[in-house]
Amino acid sequence: MALLPCMKDAWLFIEDDRIAGFGPMSLSPYTDQVPVGTQIIDASGCVVFPSFCDCHTHLVYAGSREREFMDKIRGLSYEEIAARGGGILNSAQLLQSVSENKLFEETLPRVRELIGFGTGAVEIKSGYGLTLRDELKMLRVIRRIAEETPLRVKSTFLGAHAVPAEYKDRKEAYVELIIREMIPAVASEKLADYIDVFCERGFFSVDDTRRIFDAGLRYGLRPRVHANQMAFSGGVQTGIEYGAVSVDHLEHTGPAEWNALAQSDTMPVLLPGATFFLEMEYAPAREMIACGLPVVLASNYNPGSCPAGNMQFMMTLACLKMKMTPEEAVNAATLNGACAMDLSHDYGSVTVGKIANLFITKPMPSYEYFAYAFTSPLVQTVILNGKIQKL
Ligand code: NIG
Repeated sequence: MALLPCMKDAWLFIEDDRIAGFGPMSLSPYTDQVPVGTQIIDASGCVVFPSFCDCHTHLVYAGSREREFMDKIRGLSYEEIAARGGGILNSAQLLQSVSENKLFEETLPRVRELIGFGTGAVEIKSGYGLTLRDELKMLRVIRRIAEETPLRVKSTFLGAHAVPAEYKDRKEAYVELIIREMIPAVASEKLADYIDVFCERGFFSVDDTRRIFDAGLRYGLRPRVHANQMAFSGGVQTGIEYGAVSVDHLEHTGPAEWNALAQSDTMPVLLPGATFFLEMEYAPAREMIACGLPVVLASNYNPGSCPAGNMQFMMTLACLKMKMTPEEAVNAATLNGACAMDLSHDYGSVTVGKIANLFITKPMPSYEYFAYAFTSPLVQTVILNGKIQKL
């Protein structure tokens, strides 16, 4: 993770939607002549980054939750707000009252915002529907984002995000609904790549998680888990046991979790934006990296714990609060993020043959400057699937 291969004064050639070549300017085959029809971008003084691969978002939601922001300022914790019927249940109520079209329209500006921040691939979860109808509605909106925008999208079914109010004290019955009705319906419309559970104190237990994963796997949905955010929940070990592609959050982890991860293919995803917004202790990234773990950074863009999707800021938090180096932060937010979405064959790095998903910064002195100048809008040109995006 410490290595970020870099080339100063370079050319890069894109053909159709793929990176066709790059190299030092002194050896450029295009110095005198470029193929007819080639558009030239002069990136002198700029940095060309691979687009961010943001593998944990809840981008599809209705309304917003700034009232809870006020509650938080007055001293209530995330769990206390949730226990009062706020939090995820608040978003569920808002989402249940809007049509699929309206939900899509509400989400589009956030998609455009992410593209402008340099993100090119994204995982999006359901989990604010919490009824069969509304979970399917969310997942269909996610599918439309995949079809109608240039983002590369992976979709996750997160019916087990919170126990709906009408199932209060009947969590078992809600888990049954997920297993017997939601999972088969999601699978029959092929609406999800993954299945996720919020395995956490006050939400879903390890036992619930196991049952839901068993059912998901029967329908070909590979697990990923919200694990160890508020407490040592056992979610990390459960995710690993089920071959999860990733375990996400990880603020509460120690040697037992790190060693288990080191012996697995499961990617550890850190979400410092949520840690920042909830004012918690940051995940121990340095210890994880010291164990050889391929740490991933994602935004967790959602209306409750992180109403922000700017990966530049996530990198700044990673550097300052988790003491990751800029090189580690770039790798975590690009190639490792791609790996945590099973996309590293085509995304996540500037590699010949990969999809041309890149962004070019404004002129800046070094790549370290990107995480350093943390409120400067430094992304100048975005190229997705080989095409320059209108920002
Ligand atoms: O990943 N932790 C659970 N889910 C989200 C928060 C969702 C919300 O508060 O709306 C997260 O932080």
